[in-house]
Amino acid sequence: MPVTARKTARPRKQPVWKQVDTPRSLSATTGMQHGHITPPKPGEEINVSFIDKDGEKWDFQVSEGDNLLDIAQANDLEMEGACGGSCACSTCHVIVEDPDMFDKMEEPSDDENDMLDLAFGLTETSRLGCQVLMSKELDGMVVRLPSMTRNLQASDFQAKK
Ligand code: FES
Repeated sequence: MPVTARKTARPRKQPVWKQVDTPRSLSATTGMQHGHITPPKPGEEINVSFIDKDGEKWDFQVSEGDNLLDIAQANDLEMEGACGGSCACSTCHVIVEDPDMFDKMEEPSDDENDMLDLAFGLTETSRLGCQVLMSKELDGMVVRLPSMTRNLQASDFQAKK
């Protein structure tokens, strides 16, 4: 299905009695923080690398407990994370390069496995980035970002550019 450009909404003039000086939020809840990671303390750095769809490798030093989605987004790598890390999509799909490293990881939950079944290009070492928390055991892990993701909310495939 072709992607159509979204029309830009025309600015509407509000009547004077409705104008407010400060913008108001439409939500009463705190916004979720995406791409929030904690800088590692000296001596406690954990190494992780991402290979993007162009084959370029990006190396990072991160803290224990950071997840792969947040790490990718904090470093402007292209990982969508459509559900905000709530294990309700497959747009944070990553492929762990080394099967031995994959075996060191905690087992995926049933929810993660259900979402992985919907991932484009599923492999034996696929995981959802938002569900993988970095730990000392995963020091040196390399993950590959798939060339495409399947976003069922958009009922579409999105090629990563
Ligand atoms: S961001 Fe949706 S499952 Fe990870």
